[in-house]
Amino acid sequence: MPSDSRPIGIFDSGIGGLTVMNTMRQALPRERLLYFGDTLHVPYGPRTLEEVRAFSIAIAEALLGKGCKLIVIACNTASAAALAELRQRWPEVPFVGMEPAVKPAVEQTHTGVVGVIATVATFQSELYASVVDRFAAGVKVLHQPCPGLVKQIEAGEFDTPATEALLRGWLEPMLAQGIDALVLGCTHYPIIRPLIERILGRGVRIIDPAPAVARQVARLLRERGLEAPPHAMDGSIIWTSGNPEGFQKMMVRMGMPPVAVGQAVWTDGSLSLV
Ligand code: DGL
Repeated sequence: MPSDSRPIGIFDSGIGGLTVMNTMRQALPRERLLYFGDTLHVPYGPRTLEEVRAFSIAIAEALLGKGCKLIVIACNTASAAALAELRQRWPEVPFVGMEPAVKPAVEQTHTGVVGVIATVATFQSELYASVVDRFAAGVKVLHQPCPGLVKQIEAGEFDTPATEALLRGWLEPMLAQGIDALVLGCTHYPIIRPLIERILGRGVRIIDPAPAVARQVARLLRERGLEAPPHAMDGSIIWTSGNPEGFQKMMVRMGMPPVAVGQAVWTDGSLSLV
């Protein structure tokens, strides 16, 4: 009988990882989820991998301090920068990261051309290079960084003319080159999926790795005997290092219940979740 009622930690640079949290909430309704959005430092995408790695280590430390049994890095950029390092530092803790879902895109394409949108830092990482190396043989993969897009989303501009103009500038050239699958390589992008779908039209399949990540978490919990007991009560908690009211407003706009958001504080490179 599973009986580990410790929470699962989830983090992102801001509201993006909430798309992963939502998927996990549905797939794992008994698990208690602790979420941290590093709004003070968003966006991570234009930062160096070293800087994002330092944030990620401090965040993992704070979540482990809250007793987390597993940590999901619900941010492609932080996964690219820090997943290997976190696993090395805490070998006893299961860490699940995000990587651009190139494999399913390659499996599903008919045109032989797939697109990936992600942050600049994600495209610079070894993790991304290894994904393309392993899975993209025989298929043309178009990489498109989207500088400024995370900022638009964090500002609540989910479907404004400015966000649409930015997206068209990136997606229309990919369409012209024949993509029939687009990988969302940043956890913020599913928030604007309706706009992306409108621009791409029906012929392009959109691939979001969140469901695969939720399945991977479920598998790990099962294999390691870490599942929550059958009648565990949900006591999920959310923190931001930015403005809690603003964060809560965004959650409501994303269709989430207006749960309280706590204030997290950075001091000299270490994070406190109170
Ligand atoms: N959600 C993050 C990701 O998946 C956004 C990165 C950023 O803050 O620029 O990459």
